[in-house]
Amino acid sequence: MEKFSDQKIVDSWKKNIQPWVTAIREGEIESRLLVTNKAVIDAVLTRAPKSVLDVGCGEGWLVRELERKGIQSMGVDVVPEFIAYAQKQGRGKFKCLSFETLSKEALKEQFDVVVCNFSILGNESVTSLFQKMPTLLNKGGSFIVQTIHPVIACGEEKYEDGWRSGSWKGFSDQFCDPAPWYFRTVETWKGLFIENGFEFLEILEPINPKTGKPASMVFIGTVTRSD
Ligand SMILES: C[S@@+](CC[C@H](N)C(=O)[O-])C[C@H]1O[C@@H](n2cnc3c(N)ncnc32)[C@H](O)[C@@H]1O
Repeated sequence: MEKFSDQKIVDSWKKNIQPWVTAIREGEIESRLLVTNKAVIDAVLTRAPKSVLDVGCGEGWLVRELERKGIQSMGVDVVPEFIAYAQKQGRGKFKCLSFETLSKEALKEQFDVVVCNFSILGNESVTSLFQKMPTLLNKGGSFIVQTIHPVIACGEEKYEDGWRSGSWKGFSDQFCDPAPWYFRTVETWKGLFIENGFEFLEILEPINPKTGKPASMVFIGTVTRSD
């Protein structure tokens, strides 16, 4: 398998199911507890949705949180074990679908909000997901993406799109074979929304109170039409 590919990302997640479930259940990721969990929940709530689709939902924590707030929520993920775990927790609906197999027909419904929380980290699969996104949303619906902050994550490398090696730095030693990820500049992220029919775009930079730096970047795009 190619070292840098969308397939390699999926392959890597399939090797890290149990450590990931433990990391979320035990609250092992400090930036999530301090900043990014609340940031994504607040971003969803600003849209006052009746229905939410969480794409790349992992073990399903966000779906459960939104259901507790009375919002009908569904999660999809490519890893069957994550979906089986999420279904056992007893709140929300879950389906095993990849970015590639996801469609209005496969879901049999459209949503007020679609959210991706640190889940779209590839290249071609992300481009094609953006292309189909308006078809998954109700008229006036919003697509919310929380991702690694491009400026903060750029490091010593050039500020340009391209594959980067992954790392489990800061995670437990139970993790193995980190997934690569595709770096995008802020301009590229904006372009993905605009080129795919999102008329309004908000960009948020939630700050980590410990470091004083952005913990992530949140994009909120809204479509006025629906397919
Ligand atoms: C960093 S985890 C985030 C999980 C969840 N959104 C959360 O906030 O805890 C990335 C998730 O994206 C999923 N994923 C990666 N590539 C995917 C693909 N092609 N189709 C569907 N899910 C994918 C992985 O299985 C994993 O659950």
